[in-house]
Amino acid sequence: MPAAPGTIRPFHPSDLPALYRICLLTGEVGGDATRLYRDPDLLGHLYAGPYPVADPTLTFVVVDELGPVGYIVATADSARFEQWLERQWWPTLRARYPERVDPHDGTEDHVVIGRIHEWAGADESLLDRFPAHMHIDLLPRAQGLGLGRRLVETLSAALRERGVPGLHLGVDSRNEGAIAFYTRTGFVEAARHDWGRTLTLDLT
Ligand SMILES: CC(C)(COP(=O)(O)OP(=O)(O)OC[C@H]1O[C@@H](n2cnc3c(N)ncnc32)[C@H](O)[C@@H]1OP(=O)(O)O)[C@@H](O)C(=O)NCCC(=O)NCCS
Repeated sequence: MPAAPGTIRPFHPSDLPALYRICLLTGEVGGDATRLYRDPDLLGHLYAGPYPVADPTLTFVVVDELGPVGYIVATADSARFEQWLERQWWPTLRARYPERVDPHDGTEDHVVIGRIHEWAGADESLLDRFPAHMHIDLLPRAQGLGLGRRLVETLSAALRERGVPGLHLGVDSRNEGAIAFYTRTGFVEAARHDWGRTLTLDLT
């Protein structure tokens, strides 16, 4: 029998381990990043965990009959979120993960640990019009069913209710599928970088 397409619901704290797993399984240009990390939690510490911990009302989870299969995580105010990270999130992780040199074995733990120690914050020129930012990831079995679009719409509605004027995100230029998805869902390119693109969505 084909899998049920999935239901979107608000975040519950018991979702956190699944969010970390999904983050890893979609973390290499949209595909499985397991082989890149000795510590399977590292990517989640940056791109999944802090958002629902800082503000659980802006995380939405897709579940099918087997459990969580995708999520959208966000902050309404990137500048305040960065202050929160400095106060509440990074200190414990910096102590847990001292900086490391590249072991030259193909793993990238040292890269993510470097970001934990020196977080590159949002481009300040964007923050007046697009103060929110987000990350979205769906496991392969939940992709291509319209759930990504529905997650963006669900988050956009929650942000509009708070009067947030816009949303930005970063995407790796190699992730052509995600760039196509963001373009179809209304995002426009704001900047190009050596690592990828910044895209924005106007919510007004
Ligand atoms: C990118 C992602 C969030 C898209 O979600 P999704 O549920 O698969 O996309 P949807 O089914 O809602 O598609 C919405 C629109 O985007 C288009 N789209 C989605 N994925 C696409 C792809 N790979 N190539 C081209 N178009 C795509 C769809 O055709 C659809 O267009 P339409 O509604 O105008 O017909 C999801 O595939 C995913 O999580 N991928 C892996 C992780 C990832 O890359 N995350 C983003 C990191 S920045």
